[in-house]
Amino acid sequence: MTAAREAAMDIAGDAPASAGAPATVLQVEDLSLEFRARGRSAEVLSCVSFALRAGETLCLVGESGCGKSMTALAIMRLVPPPGRIGGGRVRLRGADLASLDEAAMRRVRGNHLSMIFQEPMTALNPVYTVGEQIAEPLRLHQGLDRRQARERAVEMLRSVGIPLPERRVDDYPHQMSGGMRQRVMIAIALACDPEVLIADEPTTALDVTVQAQIFDLLREQQARRGTAVLLITHDMGAVSEMADRVVVMYGGRVVEQGAAGEVLSRPLHPYTRGLIACLPELDRAPGDLRPDLPEIPGVVPSIWDRGEGCPFFDRCGQAMPRCRGAFPPLAQAGARGHDVACWLYPETT
Ligand SMILES: Nc1ncnc2c1ncn2[C@@H]1O[C@H](COP(=O)(O)OP(=O)(O)OP(=O)(O)O)[C@@H](O)[C@H]1O
Ligand code: SF4
Ligand SMILES: [Mg+2]
Repeated sequence: MTAAREAAMDIAGDAPASAGAPATVLQVEDLSLEFRARGRSAEVLSCVSFALRAGETLCLVGESGCGKSMTALAIMRLVPPPGRIGGGRVRLRGADLASLDEAAMRRVRGNHLSMIFQEPMTALNPVYTVGEQIAEPLRLHQGLDRRQARERAVEMLRSVGIPLPERRVDDYPHQMSGGMRQRVMIAIALACDPEVLIADEPTTALDVTVQAQIFDLLREQQARRGTAVLLITHDMGAVSEMADRVVVMYGGRVVEQGAAGEVLSRPLHPYTRGLIACLPELDRAPGDLRPDLPEIPGVVPSIWDRGEGCPFFDRCGQAMPRCRGAFPPLAQAGARGHDVACWLYPETT
């Protein structure tokens, strides 16, 4: 049996689908993650839940330290120590990834679930050519021989817009520019035709022109292959450009989620409102309810200082005494599918 077929059998579950809605490919349910250090433990992620649908781009946004990368790594089952999954599930097409042994999980990573890591410059191996690095998973997971894998590597380099791919395939990473290395990372992540691509800040280190090219590339690949993309960013400009739906995180929790148009034009959570108000360049649509808030004062609380209540309490201009006591549940408060976790909204009470 080929490795690709074995991997298909590893996740033979069915995606839950409702009439008219695209099927859910990746479901994150009540995911919790903790770190233990010096005899103490801290919750990095608390009850994170969201669904990624076939063919869509879901943007996971929030300030530095809110848990975006840890969410991605938890999905991939690559959480570094001392991190530990404390509870919850990740389902790929309905199959619980925690139930797979490590060999099966590697096959899933090679065939169904790919990730572009936050630090691409260090994620590439300096001692192998870029062609070898694209070809390796193809040989390992798809059973291609050396020649076939090289041909596919050239094809992938061409498809991500690398000029003269027949020559550049033999380059080492240091012979390429930052933008080209980022394209190579995307080529590696897409080589095995994943159903789900997690892109963790894929353009942060790049200049604006290259950023725009990378986004075009992701859109093209998505249109061509129907890949579902979980795009992680702290940049609301990128969200407005790329997202079909948005999940906003703060302090290791989901605080708001919904269709991108809804969340961007009618943000509900005081934190999301603050984020969007910091973006003067976003065009305002008719009926846009965004308030003119100044930039959000204060900093994200450390994972060691999170209490029971709303993690935004110290920075929120609308905080009430009850906000300190308990975290509000995520509940629908706007249009269908637009949920918020904030005590300001009666639906949460
Ligand atoms: N090895 C570690 N030891 C202790 N705490 C850690 C470790 N790695 C991450 N953290 C903490 O876990 C929390 C979540 O980190 P994460 O990397 O997911 O944030 P992020 O949202 O991706 O931020 P950024 O936008 O800066 O990439 C942060 O508060 C961070 O300080
Ligand atoms: S729950 Fe309270 S502190 Fe938290 S965002 Fe809402 S109003 Fe502000
Ligand atoms: Mg990160």
